[in-house]
Amino acid sequence: MIELAPSILASDFAHLADQVERATAGGATVIHVDVMDGHFVPNLTLGPPVVKSLRQATRLPLDCHLMIENPDPFISEFAEAGADWISVHQEVCRHLNRTLNLIKEHNCRAGVVINPATPVDTLFEVLDIVDHVLVMSVNPGFGGQKFIPGTLHKMRKLAEIRAARGYHYRIEVDGGVAVDTVVDVVRAGAEILVAGSAVFGKGDAKANAQLLLEAARSASLQRV
Ligand code: DX5
Ligand code: ZN
Repeated sequence: MIELAPSILASDFAHLADQVERATAGGATVIHVDVMDGHFVPNLTLGPPVVKSLRQATRLPLDCHLMIENPDPFISEFAEAGADWISVHQEVCRHLNRTLNLIKEHNCRAGVVINPATPVDTLFEVLDIVDHVLVMSVNPGFGGQKFIPGTLHKMRKLAEIRAARGYHYRIEVDGGVAVDTVVDVVRAGAEILVAGSAVFGKGDAKANAQLLLEAARSASLQRV
């Protein structure tokens, strides 16, 4: 099933609840929350207090994408604040299996993320325990960047491995997903589509979400 996960990074934070509501009216079913620490990525965003407020503003699952060094000490805080899904980067986890299990112990869905330069092979030993794999299609840190087409083969590979080994993870894509790139990512196998600027940029978030989902769903019908 194709799902749209608008990234609040591109939204107007002074009207966060309204923005999320507009995107939900347009068919969004997950809310993507970008957490940045100024170390792993060259930008700072938000933490558990914003997740806690957002929890009061929507019933949709909150998908917390942690772009932070040493995420383990923060997992319980995000879970208590209301995160439903928590994803960590392969590049920062020295004990990836431990971190993913820690997320699951907090009753959250556990996801692993790979940067554009990180191969799928680095996930070989954890694919049986993750709920979703997030393929970054831009270098993390900022919204509004250009989609990197060289990442598409990783979505295809993840879909192939899942079919071959009978795993159940879902494939998520993040970065530069818009009307002109969504067809390619869906055809490559992505099911959870994160989009920031394409939803909260120009125009109305409801209409933008509808347009993106329409394009994604028609591409998924053509998927072989
Ligand atoms: C980038 C973030 C993305 C970002 C996507 O580091 O992880 O979620 O908000 O923004 P767009 O859709 O504008 O590329
Ligand atoms: Zn993200």
